[in-house]
Amino acid sequence: MNAIRSYPIIGAVIAQLVAGVIVIAISMGLADRLEPGSLFWGGLAVQSVVAALVTKFMGLPVWWVWISLCFPSALILALNAGDLPAWPFGAGFVVLYLVFSNTARERVPLYLSNRPTTDALLSLMRQRGAIRFTDLGSGLGGVVRALDGEGRRAAGVESAPMVWLVSAVLSKLQGRGQILRQDIWSTDISDEDIVYVFLSPEPMPQLYEKAQREMKPGSLLVSNSFAVPDVEASEIWELADRRKTRLYLYDMNKPDCGPDDEAAEQAG
Ligand SMILES: C[S@@+](CC[C@H](N)C(=O)[O-])C[C@H]1O[C@@H](n2cnc3c(N)ncnc32)[C@H](O)[C@@H]1O
Repeated sequence: MNAIRSYPIIGAVIAQLVAGVIVIAISMGLADRLEPGSLFWGGLAVQSVVAALVTKFMGLPVWWVWISLCFPSALILALNAGDLPAWPFGAGFVVLYLVFSNTARERVPLYLSNRPTTDALLSLMRQRGAIRFTDLGSGLGGVVRALDGEGRRAAGVESAPMVWLVSAVLSKLQGRGQILRQDIWSTDISDEDIVYVFLSPEPMPQLYEKAQREMKPGSLLVSNSFAVPDVEASEIWELADRRKTRLYLYDMNKPDCGPDDEAAEQAG
């Protein structure tokens, strides 16, 4: 079940296989009693509904349930698309892979910090006299370029190939910031004054453990929108933008703020 939670696509494939076995069994039982057309449309409906139910039963997020429900019809549509050339589908797949290749694994899609957020981060750096800033999962690198300069050094790490390439080229052209093609989990953050993340709820506990392990006293972890579960933020900044962006600030000079420590404190 852990593998399925980490790689939901495995769960989605299993759901389609389970549904497929059920559809084959029912079709064999009804083959001589139903018209081929009814058998086909009935089979398609059963495949979709059973796959969606199995996906839900596995506890996958609701969008995977919708994907499981719609996948069989989408497949039939694609197979009956007539004389359309195949290359746009191939090209589309390659582009999606280059942009979203880490989404299935990390469950972190590409969405970007807005201007009020970069302004808030800039004033945070100024307030704290921070010099070194890293954006873990830097997307198109906008935050990094906005913060680099005037004595500050900002860097980003990004693992999606196309996203990294575009952001690295933009940073080179503008001479602002450095974007590395690197995984968050293998990035050394021990020298950073501020580490910024805008990810998803999924990696937050593991990320906080990494920050506690590696970041120096007095440094700050800032998470856009996603709080670390069971850890009280040192400060929460609510911005006056349309999204009502919340920045969760975690000071790294408190040795006692891990979820386990809190649970131990409550128990004791
Ligand atoms: C929501 S976007 C945020 C982009 C940027 N930080 C911003 O605020 O504008 C998250 C980014 O993290 C990247 N990402 C996800 N998992 C990653 C990993 N393990 N290593 C490096 N980058 C990752 C994604 O490709 C995506 O570009």
